[in-house]
Amino acid sequence: MVGLGFQALAAEVSYHREVVPVLQRHCYGCHHPGKLKGDVDLTSVSNLLKGGKHGAAVVPGDAAKSVLITEVSGADPAMPKDGDRLSPQQVELLERWIREGAHDDSPPAPPVRTESPVYQAPPVLGAMDFSGDGQWLAVAAYHEVLVFEAGTLRRVGRWVGSPARTDTVRFSPDSKRLAVVGGDPGVRGEVQVWDVGSGKALVRVAPSQDSLFGGDWSPDGTRLVVGGADRSVRVIDSGTGRESMRAMVHSDWVLGAVFAQGGSRLISGSRDRSLRLLEASNGRMLDVLNRETEPVVRLIRHPKEDRVAFAGGESRVRLYKTEAKPPNTDPGRDPNLVREFDSYGDGVTAVAFSADGLRLAHAGIPDGEARIQEVDSGKRVSTLKGHEGPIFGMAFSVDGARLVTGGYEGQLRVFEVSTGKLLTNFCPVEMGR
Ligand code: HEC
Repeated sequence: MVGLGFQALAAEVSYHREVVPVLQRHCYGCHHPGKLKGDVDLTSVSNLLKGGKHGAAVVPGDAAKSVLITEVSGADPAMPKDGDRLSPQQVELLERWIREGAHDDSPPAPPVRTESPVYQAPPVLGAMDFSGDGQWLAVAAYHEVLVFEAGTLRRVGRWVGSPARTDTVRFSPDSKRLAVVGGDPGVRGEVQVWDVGSGKALVRVAPSQDSLFGGDWSPDGTRLVVGGADRSVRVIDSGTGRESMRAMVHSDWVLGAVFAQGGSRLISGSRDRSLRLLEASNGRMLDVLNRETEPVVRLIRHPKEDRVAFAGGESRVRLYKTEAKPPNTDPGRDPNLVREFDSYGDGVTAVAFSADGLRLAHAGIPDGEARIQEVDSGKRVSTLKGHEGPIFGMAFSVDGARLVTGGYEGQLRVFEVSTGKLLTNFCPVEMGR
């Protein structure tokens, strides 16, 4: 066989780094745990070995006997059922991986941490959220979520075991559970659901090989939607962690996804500059909502109306309606844009609505300043100063009177919304020896 000597010298094909990206791109859409076309789940080596109705998809060492290969080979390959066929190089890669023994080199499941981290310096603080019942504030730190009594800001819990980088923490509509979404970049994305009463994780799943972003609850609390660095939009069952829908409609990282229209639709925002309206049940793309001029960096849902706000690459927050655009819209127009808010020099780092939807807070770089504006008029309510470095998380108290911020400097700051006055600031954890 020509080239065998050369191949013997080449490094073994990596399942995690080389095979997964091919299958993810061309096959996962129809063959994942939530959608088992032909009864085949192609998202793990154990499931490739198990295969479907007709037996194993992969026979280690024997590419010719592996249905995975026969399905994608030949003049008119059966798979993928829709979309571009695999290139000869991609088929050859899959064959080589099988010939070499179909080894699984995916990273092990994240170790579940039980010990609180010992901090030598104040931790970077990120995502935060007040529970809708007004009782709790949750703040993401390093591998743990800090829980405070909302009124006194007394710390009442350290929930250890959250992802290395947490993008979003969000209380369920009934305030009984907390969703934690994030991951370890390039290794895994994680979704967790914690029980507020016991401080225990009810669900911990790692459905992707790269970070996940956003994390909005359906109005009935049964589902979560997340975006991914793998360009996915996923709907996850909040009780079991099972994925029920995956849409691959974006061409770049999906940095936010939320529910709309009572939970029947999704809105996703991506670095590919589009804000998309999707059917929640099957991921079908219904429309592009915006005039795709800037990457969508952060996306949040209006708490009362079918609107979303996103922070974009043009360093400001924009408010959008979530209806499909009128037919034949001139591509130069942007009919869903409702309002643009104040801009920053080098980017927006955090954005939050008040619970009544009347106010919007945002923060940007370089100055680490936060501002609050009225959503309807755009009028500036207050300007919150004194931060050192960027702000990564902010949340309004449920009554809308206070805004809490946190970020690079590791301090929680509490401001009076109406005046912008700093009420208190403190580091929320003790330092180690
Ligand atoms: C658009 C949906 C879709 C995509 C994308 C897709 N498949 Fe399938 N696949 C199906 C359906 C439907 C079946 C059931 C059999 C059939 O209808 O041909 C199936 C069956 C299979 C089977 C089982 C065949 C058997 O006889 O047991 C394998 C293996 C398979 N697909 C591999 C792949 C691979 C590999 C890819 C990516 C290169 C892929 N599929 C992409 C829809 C899809």
